[in-house]
Amino acid sequence: MARITVGVSGGIGAYKAVEVVRGLQKKGHDVTVVMTNSARRFVGELTFEAITKRRVVSSQWAPGLNADIEHIALATASDLLLVVPATANTIARFAQGLADDFLSSLYLATTAPVLLAPAMNTHMLEHPAVAANLASLAARGVRFVQPGEGYLACGWVGKGRLAEPEEIVETAHAQLTGTASLAGRSVLVTAGPTFEDLDPVRFIGNRSSGRMGYAVAAEAARRGAAVILVTGPTHLDPPAGVSVVRVRSAADMHAAVMAHVADVQAVVMAAAVADYTPESVAAQKVAKADGGWTVPLTRTVDILAALGRLPSRAEGRPVLIGFAAETHDVLDHAEAKRARKGVDLIVANDVAQPGAGFEVDTNVVTFLEARGRETLPLMTKADVAVRLVDRLERLLGVPPVAGRP
Ligand code: CTP
Repeated sequence: MARITVGVSGGIGAYKAVEVVRGLQKKGHDVTVVMTNSARRFVGELTFEAITKRRVVSSQWAPGLNADIEHIALATASDLLLVVPATANTIARFAQGLADDFLSSLYLATTAPVLLAPAMNTHMLEHPAVAANLASLAARGVRFVQPGEGYLACGWVGKGRLAEPEEIVETAHAQLTGTASLAGRSVLVTAGPTFEDLDPVRFIGNRSSGRMGYAVAAEAARRGAAVILVTGPTHLDPPAGVSVVRVRSAADMHAAVMAHVADVQAVVMAAAVADYTPESVAAQKVAKADGGWTVPLTRTVDILAALGRLPSRAEGRPVLIGFAAETHDVLDHAEAKRARKGVDLIVANDVAQPGAGFEVDTNVVTFLEARGRETLPLMTKADVAVRLVDRLERLLGVPPVAGRP
């Protein structure tokens, strides 16, 4: 049994939150409901109070509430913060870090996982402002139960309808209980770019943000794996519970991976490792001179290919997962890479497609294994990570969990 705080914000889907609370209780969870002011226009507090047998919190100013600083007390006691429905306004307040009501203060104060079930009109959902807020929450590790398509209360038919209560309950339940499938296993994940120094102030880098690798590390850790995250320079905060090894160049990353490979059962190479590095690094800053500057480059070690040459899986080689960022003939190139590097699974990424690639929070990928391939629709990097770790579990021989493909 877990302690779940269900935040209800002011959308027509608020009435469905009643069914979600019931469903969570049926699974044995202890639910406390927090409502925004606008939510109270759609459903009465009494309804939630009657089914949860707990006081419903909707204001931080109610007398008696500050005796134990309620939003901090609840934030600390919750194992999950689930918001149903999450309106455009609530999403914006979370994304901006506002603390102007009880629910938004609670979001800032909790370190529990956060799951949002957005619901709004199709055009609102597609608005760049909403998309940017969703992306920034996703980058911070917030998870979503994606809205479905169908008839919307505003008369439009399209995407934006609150996911079905059963789906929300199942997702929340899986989030709370699905933590042990990788317990006892160790996974090494690489992420981010590498920087190849030219002199003490200049380097050759690339546009990788590290988000995909960080999402994979977070997901594997959430399922109980011991995760070593070998990361090139990024601006991201490492996910909770992973051990972080910071590196700069491709050579550093190679050394760090090789130092740990014997301790892990799987390696996910999500880093965008430089293929070339300057032949030498100038000890002092190179001053400009007339004419151009030609820098001789040499090949770096291909880390993934080196791992692929290790003795076979049967002799203890870890499961190997690589990425292939391509702009054309995506699947042919990726399949050739998979075979050439001797890896178990390649994640092919068509970086020419909108919504895929380096500096966005979404991705469009195909998983290629020797036994077949699967193309996924556009989804957040966090959701790609879930699907990828599902595959990884299968490659590791972890027994499948009901409901997972
Ligand atoms: N990789 C690696 N070591 C390198 C270069 C890449 O381990 N020195 C890994 C990446 O982490 C990724 C995969 O190999 O998992 C990408 O393969 P690669 O052939 O390097 O892809 P591209 O750089 O896109 O290749 P190419 O320029 O050959 O298309």
